[in-house]
Amino acid sequence: MNEMNPQPIPTLPPPIPTEWESILRPCIERVRSQYRLKWNGLHGAGHWARVLENGLRLAASTPGIRTDVVIGFAVFHDSCRWDDLEDPRHGARAALWVRRLHAEGILPLDREGLALLEKACRTHTGGRIPEAPTIMACWDGDRLDLPRIAGVEVRVEWLGTALARDPDFVQAATARASSRTLPYGHLFSH
Ligand SMILES: [Fe+2]
Repeated sequence: MNEMNPQPIPTLPPPIPTEWESILRPCIERVRSQYRLKWNGLHGAGHWARVLENGLRLAASTPGIRTDVVIGFAVFHDSCRWDDLEDPRHGARAALWVRRLHAEGILPLDREGLALLEKACRTHTGGRIPEAPTIMACWDGDRLDLPRIAGVEVRVEWLGTALARDPDFVQAATARASSRTLPYGHLFSH
């Protein structure tokens, strides 16, 4: 954030682009039909909703971030988990599933967007910071929600985008995570 002209962080979550409101409903229904864990669990709908909010905030302020990919990542990156703790293959399963849903026409992305989303899902548990800004924003949105786990703090050195590293942004995301807010409840509530 510019220290000479600090901009307050808006309280309300950014709106979902209108066309994606209608795209997300069937996507979330498909996720619901096959998700093996608790809908409101550690890696469940509340987490996806906050990752979406984080991602949309980053996309709105950072050039070069693809909003459609950030939205897809939020909904799908943990959707194929079989275990809330150890499940190292869940990202790879999510990438395969994303490809299938795209082939079915449920997930409209161009070739580049699909490739970015697949890669973001497949590799999101990696420790490094990706080079592509869109994947960076996807991962940042996920990592900013870690404080939903009691005693866990955001590790700024794991974040890639400049806005995500801003202390005020981290503090606001931490507050949302630790109080387990549910943005976009019209889509994600059970
Ligand atoms: Fe996640």
